[in-house]
This record gives sequence, structure tokens and C-alpha cells, in this order.
Amino acid sequence: MDKEELTIIRKFEHIEHCLKRQVEAHVTNQFENIHFVHTSLPEIDKDEIDLSVEFLGRKFDYPIMIAGMTGGTRGSQLAGKINKTLAKAAQELNIPMGVGSQRAMIRNPETWESYYVRDVAPDIFLIGNLGAPQFAETMPNRYGIEEALKAVETIQADALAIHMNPLQESVQPEGDTQYRGVLKVLAELKSEFPYPIIAKETGAGVSMEVAIKLESIGIDAIDVGGLGGTSWSGVEYYRAKDERSKNLALKFWDWGIPTAISVAEVRYATDLPIIATGGIRDGVMIAKALALGANLAGVALPLLKPAVRGDVEGVIKILQRYIDELKNAMFLVGARDVEELRKVPLVITGFAREWLEQRIDLGEFLRVRRRKA
Ligand SMILES: Cc1cc2nc3c(=O)[nH]c(=O)nc-3n(C[C@H](O)[C@H](O)[C@H](O)COP(=O)(O)O)c2cc1C
Repeated sequence: MDKEELTIIRKFEHIEHCLKRQVEAHVTNQFENIHFVHTSLPEIDKDEIDLSVEFLGRKFDYPIMIAGMTGGTRGSQLAGKINKTLAKAAQELNIPMGVGSQRAMIRNPETWESYYVRDVAPDIFLIGNLGAPQFAETMPNRYGIEEALKAVETIQADALAIHMNPLQESVQPEGDTQYRGVLKVLAELKSEFPYPIIAKETGAGVSMEVAIKLESIGIDAIDVGGLGGTSWSGVEYYRAKDERSKNLALKFWDWGIPTAISVAEVRYATDLPIIATGGIRDGVMIAKALALGANLAGVALPLLKPAVRGDVEGVIKILQRYIDELKNAMFLVGARDVEELRKVPLVITGFAREWLEQRIDLGEFLRVRRRKA
């Protein structure tokens, strides 16, 4: 079996484990330590709340996106069905959506249809996806502008996400652990690439040091993909065939920067648009992410089950619940729109407070989040 065939099988296994097993982190994304201050006099009508947001020059009805999950499963309709189901929901709600890694498509162009959703979602903001290790200086046949353009243009996407997943790669026996020179190659890519690039973690969070580097090379947005939701080390634990691999994956199951903390760090250190992904499981978390300075919240795992069934209404139902909860939280803090939500007072307690006090000037942060974004 060659490496690409292994990639395709791996994708199936990932989806299967994500559907059937407990693949989430055992620790939280720390939103429980971010508190709103209830407002007894909101001074707005709940009906007048506007949930729309702007992101990378486009306007969306809700500050939520469907995070990239799949594609490239040649010989099966599964990936295509998942992506089309998610895309129909995104079209209906006017929210952005990402596809999963297009590495399989770069090697096997005939798998392009499994990522293609324009026939069912002509208007959505669609985000392509390639992996950072593929751009490493030390990667044989490393990717450059040609592959990046192919990823976006084959599926008529509007932007490209480059996923940073050193955790997942490091606990897989067959993982791509080349990361040398990625920043330099991405800087070159950015200078000639005509589409926005989103740097995206996949469950271990983005630190402020990394965010500053990404901002310095002109990356357009950061998806913090923080700890507290789907754990890729967890998924790899189930895939591991021997004791040694199992041990490594288990040890790193809960490694990373919790989502809420990562949003705070990145907002403190940069002016970049932020997507808060990683364990987002209700609308109150979304409200808190936005209040901390995120521009959108991203959701993956909860949408997988209905998507596998081709159940568009099921996907919308989950997102609609989040929207209802988000709107209610906004009412109770008197925020008419997302802009106002960024100005409401927040109280940060416990682990999140301890972490942030050591890393940033918390008092300044609570002011800065109001100025930036
Ligand atoms: C089944 C599945 C497949 C995924 N595949 C990809 C991928 O190919 N590329 C990527 O950047 N992220 C991928 N992700 C990561 C998600 O985009 C997201 O960052 C992560 O799952 C955290 O969000 P969650 O806790 O809501 O699941 C995948 C997630 C799931 C659940």
C-alpha cells in the first residue's frame, strides 16, 4: 500500500472513531471559567439583537462556522455526502464552512468531487484545507503555490486553511513530523497567493508567540483550534496498533492550550480575526468566545453524526440551538450585536485566570479586547 492509500484509509478510520468512541479531551476548554455579569436592565429588546458578522470581507448571518472535517475518500460516497450535507446547512444559514484536508486530492485529483459543494451551496464562504507539514523545507516534494491554488480553485473556495497539527502527527507512527521552515515557506506563499490564508490548529490551541509570528508574515486569520473538544491524540489512541504507540497517544490526549485561553492570548497579542474552535458545544460558549475577542466560533464533532446520515435538518437543528442560546446570552448582558458583546464586562476565574495572569496583563487584556478586532 502506498502512502496515499494509507491516507485515505486513515480518513475512514478517523471518521469511524469520531462517530463511535469518546474522542474528546478529558479536560475542558475553560469557558466555564469565563463569566458574564448578568444585567437586570438589558435596555434592549431581545428581538432587535443582530447576530450578523463580517469576516474576511464577507457578511454572515451568524458568527458561527462549520469547521473542516473530511474529503478525499475515493471509492466511497461518504466524504462527499458529509461535505454536501454540511454545505447545504451552511447555505441555508449563511455561515462559512471548511472542508477537510485536500492532501488526498492533490495526489489523487479524481477525488475532487468529495470536496466539491458548489452545486448545493453556491453562495457560502468556503475554505479549502492543506497541512502545514506539506510546506516544510524538509518535506520531499513540498507544496508551494501550485498546490495551494489547486486546493482553492478546484473546489471554487474563497480562502485556504493551513492546518497546524504537530500533536496529531507526533503521536502517529506514520505521522509527518517535518515542520522545519514552514513559516518561511508560508511567508513566500502569502506574498503571491491571491486568496486569504487562515492558519488553523486542530485541537491543541495557538499560543500568542505563534500568533505573533503568523501575523508578521501576513496570515489573514487564525483558527485557534484549542484543547477541550475533539482530541486528535485521542483519535490516534484508538488507531494505535501497539503498546508503545498507544502509550504515546494516551499521554498526549489532553495536551494543549484550552480554547478560551488561546482566544485570549491571540486577541491580546494580535489584531488578526480569530475563529474559536475546540469543544464549542453551546451558544453560551460562543457568546463567551466572541466576548473574549473571537470573530467566529467553529464547530466540528457535534455535526458529524447528522452529516453522515445526510441529515441537513439535523445539522441545522444543532446550530439553531446554539444560535438561540447565543442570542439569549446576548440579551442577558444587554448586547445588541457582536460589537457590543465585545464591550461587556467579563470575570475570569480559576485555571484560566491563573494561566492568563502569568502570560498576559489581564487588566490590559480586558481593555484591549475592546479596542481590537
Ligand atoms: C472527523 C473529523 C475530521 C477532521 N479533519 C480535519 C482535517 O482534515 N483538517 C483540519 O484542519 N481539521 C480537521 N478536523 C478538526 C476540526 O476542524 C476542529 O478543529 C476540531 O475537531 C475541534 O473542533 P470540535 O471540538 O468541535 O470537534 C477534523 C475534525 C473531525 C471531528
